[in-house]
Amino acid sequence: MSESSTASPPPTADTTSPTILALRDVRAAYGSIEVLHGITIEVPTGSVVALLGPNGAGKTTTISVASGLMPVTGGALEIAGQDVTGVGATELARAGVCTVPEGRGVFPNLTITENLLMASYTGVERNEIRDLAFARFPRLAERRDQLAGTLSGGEQQMLAMARALSTDPVILMLDELSMGLAPKIVGQLYEQVAAIAADGVSVLVVEQFARSVLGVADHAVVMAHGTVQWSGAANDLDEDLLTSTYLGGP
Ligand SMILES: Nc1ncnc2c1ncn2[C@@H]1O[C@H](COP(=O)(O)OP(=O)(O)O)[C@@H](O)[C@H]1O
Ligand SMILES: [Mg+2]
Repeated sequence: MSESSTASPPPTADTTSPTILALRDVRAAYGSIEVLHGITIEVPTGSVVALLGPNGAGKTTTISVASGLMPVTGGALEIAGQDVTGVGATELARAGVCTVPEGRGVFPNLTITENLLMASYTGVERNEIRDLAFARFPRLAERRDQLAGTLSGGEQQMLAMARALSTDPVILMLDELSMGLAPKIVGQLYEQVAAIAADGVSVLVVEQFARSVLGVADHAVVMAHGTVQWSGAANDLDEDLLTSTYLGGP
């Protein structure tokens, strides 16, 4: 969890770069136990990439590394073509790397509006934050004074996404977006993911179960045992490969 203390200015992401996020041969460990064994993942600018794989594959660890919360023990991390290996989470957040963690991370005892304004330290106008969030998610507008802890799981996910977007990210990483949610609401959330990407924010979505995300993903990466088993166009992902990966295959 160390922040880098280099004298160089914080990285700024050049969104004209063809690749917004790249992990190159990245290794990472918890203590002495290595769990990412040299993974290479690229998120092309403006795209939705689905990061798939069974429980324990290393998906959340990958997001932790990409957001600077966890150091790499090998390989390199790049944002918009710039080497940011070793740069800490605060600086990467300033450069536009934004994560919605598994479990969503909303403050249950604050209202929707209060939750949205928690992100306003980034300097984006408070009214603008609210207006943009409510335009994207009308359900949040209807419930603006309701405590976040009393919202449905889907509404909490909307709130977490809206709050993340209010930081004006260049890449949004979503961990287990659909966890515990009904298929109908998952479909609505993925429509929003597609809209977010259409607005120019690149998205990396982690999902344990593939089908829900593949409808909106441009690319897919399948992980198992801390390695990348397959990556390519989402349309080319073979059901058999997916099934065997989940069953502990190749
Ligand atoms: N805090 C931690 N301490 C030690 N090992 C961990 C920790 N978090 C995850 N792991 C291990 O790292 C591996 C990858 O976990 P994780 O990235 O959470 O996988 P996924 O998100 O794909 O389910 C697993 O073997 C898991 O047990
Ligand atoms: Mg996980």
